[in-house]
Amino acid sequence: MNISFRFLHKWLSIALMVFMLTNAYSQAPLITNINARQTMSLNGQWEYIVDPYETGFYGYRWTERNEKDREAYWNSDKPDNKTDRKEHGYTAKNSLRVPGDWNSQAEKFLYYEGTVWYKRSFDYKKQTNGNRFFLYFGAVNYKADVYLNGKKLGSHKGGFTPFNFEIPDTLLKGKDNFLVVKVDNRRYKDEVPTINTDWWNYGGITRDVLIAEVPQQFILDYSLQLKKNTANEIEGWVKFNVPVNDKLTIEIPDLKWKKEIQVNGDMVSFSDMIAGIELWSPEKPVLYKVKIQTAGNSITDKIGFRNIEVRGFSIFLNEKPVFLRGICIHEEIPQQGRRAYSSADARQLLLQAKSLSANMVRLAHYPHNENMTRMADSLGLLVWSEIPVYWTIEFSNPEVLVKAKTQLSEMITRDRNRASIIIWSVGNETPVHEARTKFMKELLSEARRLDGSRLVSAALEVHLEKGVSVVDDPLGEFTDMVAVNEYIGWYAGLPSSIKNVQWQIKYNKPFFISETGAETLSGFHGDSLTRWSEEYQEWFYKEQVAMFKRLPPNFSGVSPWILNDFRSPRRNNPTFQRGWNNKGLLDHQGKKKKAFYVLKKYYDEIKRKTD
Ligand code: GCU
Repeated sequence: MNISFRFLHKWLSIALMVFMLTNAYSQAPLITNINARQTMSLNGQWEYIVDPYETGFYGYRWTERNEKDREAYWNSDKPDNKTDRKEHGYTAKNSLRVPGDWNSQAEKFLYYEGTVWYKRSFDYKKQTNGNRFFLYFGAVNYKADVYLNGKKLGSHKGGFTPFNFEIPDTLLKGKDNFLVVKVDNRRYKDEVPTINTDWWNYGGITRDVLIAEVPQQFILDYSLQLKKNTANEIEGWVKFNVPVNDKLTIEIPDLKWKKEIQVNGDMVSFSDMIAGIELWSPEKPVLYKVKIQTAGNSITDKIGFRNIEVRGFSIFLNEKPVFLRGICIHEEIPQQGRRAYSSADARQLLLQAKSLSANMVRLAHYPHNENMTRMADSLGLLVWSEIPVYWTIEFSNPEVLVKAKTQLSEMITRDRNRASIIIWSVGNETPVHEARTKFMKELLSEARRLDGSRLVSAALEVHLEKGVSVVDDPLGEFTDMVAVNEYIGWYAGLPSSIKNVQWQIKYNKPFFISETGAETLSGFHGDSLTRWSEEYQEWFYKEQVAMFKRLPPNFSGVSPWILNDFRSPRRNNPTFQRGWNNKGLLDHQGKKKKAFYVLKKYYDEIKRKTD
């Protein structure tokens, strides 16, 4: 059969284009340290359409609209002429700030759970022809469907981790690009988290949106760490988006260290002795400028070098036992009742933790924004970072395990170079049963596979038996530390019962109290037996501190619940809660409650003994 070359060439190029477009539209590997790339911010006011009936996505027979459907909300909202019928449209009169949750931006959104379509137009001037373009989201809660100029780039699920899509060169115009993001924050049983949480379901494009322009071959990801049990050996690797044949230079100018490596492939590992490294610690959070470059691409970062490990039943930081003077934090600014997202927000929250004389924060119950972990690096706070495998996840559903592993991988990939992070946590207060322990063990193994340099943990189960606090959660066999949440004196008994508590812990590992707390409405006073009063919370903390002092030497720290009062739809006492969980040591306005000073006094005593 004589098939002309022209015919073959035509169909092959069409097939290649289709392949490119379909593949280009799936999620691309995460580009780390996005702010060090050549980027253009797409933050600002985006126009929106609230779409509780999913009209922009499904026709009236509930069939998914195809890309060409003129009534799809990702397609132009402009009528072709005066007769043309359009039943959707974006307008500056309806706009939302990005980044930011929608709940706090207008009263009508406070409890809204459903779909909101976001749209913005933008011009883009390519820096260099032949480069590649990626659309990067710091996070969208909970599901994002992203369209550019009427073409779908892809979808992402998970409310607290970054993702990016490649933009085909042919799709990105110099003027008036039409970017639409469908955001759906509805809760589902088979998602992570599941339908019940004790925090507000803030929906929206809650973190930064950027376009990144990179060369055809670029540095995708990298790791630089102190080799375990050394103080002067750095090891690491650099990964490229495609195999390269290039000379790679890695440099730490302040240490007068530079290494050149010939790379033939998409990844290269290295290690080297480096004299004079000042180790990172909360007391001295030393960060070094690191430069990684090839002929066509370069990137800089600020990285701290430290050791973290468990020895016997203590946690060792830089070869010395460390006691974690912690506090739990939600990613929320209570003064405005909104998601935290900015560097200023991170500074506010972490300086509040420092004012407590804390040296550690538990970022509950989901990966916080990158500003928080970078600020912890700078201010000197150790970090417990966690994925929202929270309470009654569907542990028997293999798809849910994939979702949890995806979020775990996105969290670790983004933050693997943050010295402040010492603990990856795979969940919180999950009920003990066979499927759950299997599920959680898989996550612990995955965390160690992705990053063997940090401790792995989870808030385990504890139960009271005749006044004895028993920790025999089977998952404790597989974590590096035994962490439990206890609320003796708030949910169980009164604070007077705390003095009689004995602990029975099955595992000879560092013991950490990952939550304890009592609720009080700031400014409400009574005697210490008056529930919800500041005096009750103060008494609770005094009894808790007295118990901490009676614990055996494997007691390695505590992160009380919680730094600030926070919004929760579960908290509906009309006088003392009104939609807020008020276990904060600081109230909605950042005012310290009486219990704040009890914990601070305890931490100051420890600081004096250990620093
Ligand atoms: C649990 C849970 C928290 C919750 C807290 C409380 O331990 O981990 O997310 O807010 O208790 O009841 O206040």
